[in-house]
Amino acid sequence: MNVLVLGSGGREHALAWKLKQSPRVKKLVCAPGNPGMARLGECVAADLADLKGLADLAEKLKADLTVVGPEAPLVAGIADEFARCQLPLVGPSRAAAELEGSKVFAKEFMKRHHIPTPDFTACADHGDAYVALCAVEWPVVIKADGLAAGKGVRIAETPDEATAIIEAFMEKHELGAAGDRVVIEEYLEGEELSFIVLTDGKAVLPWAASQDHKRLQDDDRGPNTGGMGAYSDEGIVDAGLREQLLGEIVEPTIKGLQADGRPYQGFLYFGLMLTRDGPRVLEFNCRMGDPECQPLVARLESDLAEALAKTAAGELASARLDWSSDAAVCVVLASAGYPGKPETGKLISGLAEAEKLAGVTVFHAGTRLEGGRVVTAGGRALGVTARAADLRAAVDRVYAAVEKLHFEGMHFRRDIAARGLQKLQARR
Ligand code: AMP
Ligand code: GLY
Repeated sequence: MNVLVLGSGGREHALAWKLKQSPRVKKLVCAPGNPGMARLGECVAADLADLKGLADLAEKLKADLTVVGPEAPLVAGIADEFARCQLPLVGPSRAAAELEGSKVFAKEFMKRHHIPTPDFTACADHGDAYVALCAVEWPVVIKADGLAAGKGVRIAETPDEATAIIEAFMEKHELGAAGDRVVIEEYLEGEELSFIVLTDGKAVLPWAASQDHKRLQDDDRGPNTGGMGAYSDEGIVDAGLREQLLGEIVEPTIKGLQADGRPYQGFLYFGLMLTRDGPRVLEFNCRMGDPECQPLVARLESDLAEALAKTAAGELASARLDWSSDAAVCVVLASAGYPGKPETGKLISGLAEAEKLAGVTVFHAGTRLEGGRVVTAGGRALGVTARAADLRAAVDRVYAAVEKLHFEGMHFRRDIAARGLQKLQARR
């Protein structure tokens, strides 16, 4: 198989790393890729907004499979473009990707199909929003409707804070068109969980569960980020919860999309809150998670290329995924300034030393080559990932690898997987 991976982050490096291990993959091309991906296959320049150009590239490469990492090309309709050219691709159509592309659509979809989600009001203009805010309990969550690169969800503790957010989103248009509509949502407490499945619209293949760490600093303090680390182990979700998630959330979602004439194919990410009253969907993503992908592929024992080819072909019912009982942890090394404007161009040292450690892989997220040396090129620079027999050993391993790595301004969380470690201790 010739496989094309689109994207340049840690998730895409992790997907490429796992695809490369498949005996079926003869040629791996990454567009645009990054220096880590360049060690696995050829990297070619590409504009992910140019859907026609990407289809031309896949055609030229005779790609048997294209795997899309980020959401933007999916929300823009890359799957429809590839379908027109009869090019196999993993990812939902533009209509199905609206689950991530519009929070108003996603919330109304869930209401229509009785999928448990926090109560909400959808507001089409700031007048509606100020009226809705008169009848809420505090705090509330305010979500911009469109894609906002992680900046579109804010928690307001008071009416003054909420007013300032509505003003910023809907009157000053700080997020552009993404903030033209908002969802005002009930604030929920509980533990968050990332539950990701592969589907071809009929069969559903759930991945192992994982947990992200969205806040910048230890103990979930500081601003939200794209994700500062993630882990996956057998203890996150027990068989009962897994069945409940599949029956009450995943199945109604896939069937609901089908019923609405938007059949879904690709990765579907359920961002969940486990509340005292049961699991609730906070968000959908129309793609794999980042950084969840990194520990997940580290635990995946099956051939990813085969599963993805079957997804694209509508033959997922005959695929399976086996998971190691090992645990895996990814710690993101971020640049100074992140999640605001990151400092870049800083020399990264210790890559080879870190990767020499058993069970460790360093996924590149925001890096580039400068004179043959790897320097930082984004907010999340690296995703250091370790696999080991249990979560304690994986955490020790990942932080031993982090110790080897350095760049000016580097910062990271020291408590990735702490919640999982508590559970592990409780089980023993
Ligand atoms: P989202 O992009 O919708 O997942 O929101 C980003 C983050 O905001 C989530 O991962 C949660 O940490 C938080 N969040 C979103 N919705 C809620 C909610 N209804 N209650 C509490 N926290 C939320
Ligand atoms: N880790 C959160 C996301 O991929 O959206």
